[in-house]
Amino acid sequence: MSKLKIAVIGAGSISDFHLQAYDSNPEVEIYAICDLNEARAQEAAKKYNATHVFTDYKELLALPEIHSVSICTWNDTHAEISIAALDAGKNVLCEKPLCQTVEDALEVEKAVHRSGKLLQVGFVRRYSDNAQILKKFIDEGELGEIYYAKASCLRRLGNPGGWFADVDRSGGGPLIDIGVHIIDISWYLMGKPKVKTVSANVSNRLGNRANIRNLSFYQAADYDANKNTVEDMANALIRFENGASLLVDVSFTLHAKQDETSVRLYGDKGGAELEPEISLIGEKFDTILNMTPQVDFKSLDFAGSFRNEVNHFIDSTQGRKETLSPVEDGVEIMKILCAIYESAREGREISL
Ligand SMILES: NC(=O)c1ccc[n+]([C@@H]2O[C@H](COP(=O)([O-])OP(=O)(O)OC[C@H]3O[C@@H](n4cnc5c(N)ncnc54)[C@H](O)[C@@H]3O)[C@@H](O)[C@H]2O)c1
Repeated sequence: MSKLKIAVIGAGSISDFHLQAYDSNPEVEIYAICDLNEARAQEAAKKYNATHVFTDYKELLALPEIHSVSICTWNDTHAEISIAALDAGKNVLCEKPLCQTVEDALEVEKAVHRSGKLLQVGFVRRYSDNAQILKKFIDEGELGEIYYAKASCLRRLGNPGGWFADVDRSGGGPLIDIGVHIIDISWYLMGKPKVKTVSANVSNRLGNRANIRNLSFYQAADYDANKNTVEDMANALIRFENGASLLVDVSFTLHAKQDETSVRLYGDKGGAELEPEISLIGEKFDTILNMTPQVDFKSLDFAGSFRNEVNHFIDSTQGRKETLSPVEDGVEIMKILCAIYESAREGREISL
């Protein structure tokens, strides 16, 4: 049986996790790589034995034999490339965030319906084993009704620079880059309740703190500290129509003692933490129990989650599974992110 030919557009940092995952899937062949930076595309093609290299994604999409593509480019290109790929008859795994605006998200959704092809949004945390373990407990009613969730992703020093720090190409700072993950996973585990209002604050007080020495941090493939037009901190209170609420804060830079990632859910029968470590909190015989699932990775298994995400994507293109992160969810998350920026800009609560 011939293998499904896949292509990866954007050959920077995250693409390697997509490529590793495709490489370990026996059903697919890594066929083509595209990047504006040809040397970068060539290097990835050599590493994964891809026979076709492009700098213009349109030429890649013109190849009828390509079955599916991963989009791993800057955020400002996600909508345009997704729509072009869907219209060219390809299935799409698009990195988060789906795009930069609700209008663009709706255009992508239209293209999905028009083409009849699959678009899976790269909400990779949904595909982690630990998220699926918690989902099982939640679906079986162990937490009861979840009425509160609290999520943080605070970096004291972690503005990646380059395009991440250029609002035109990224669409925003820590909120759209890392906040998207914790908002999405909280919302998903809460059962995707309908959003009612959003009240938020965004600050740009510290800049990128490129002056800091003796402490290393993640930097984009094309690191450049000179331009920084994104926020350095954001927080938000999201109210849902079912009465539940989600409290979030995120930062690229903050005078915090240490970095912190946490995702906590509180129900009327029990609680759960996905991060920093998977755990469940319950009550039995008038005694509070903290329960620790015995698993290989207590925190996020990054590479394993990408493997699960890519395998689920391929299975979904073959009709064996349904994607866990359809375009509709990408649209809802864009509504939340955009409402957070709007609320902060206008200094008032936004109703959705
Ligand atoms: N799921 C996750 O946990 C996760 C983690 C990091 C990044 N991401 C997402 O992945 C995407 C890429 O991030 P990254 O860290 O790899 O950035 P990066 O800067 O390392 O790589 C991006 C690459 O895209 C290329 N590119 C940009 N526009 C292009 C175009 N029109 N055609 C072809 N190539 C183009 C750039 O030349 C660059 O090589 C972003 O959307 C980011 O939000 C997701």
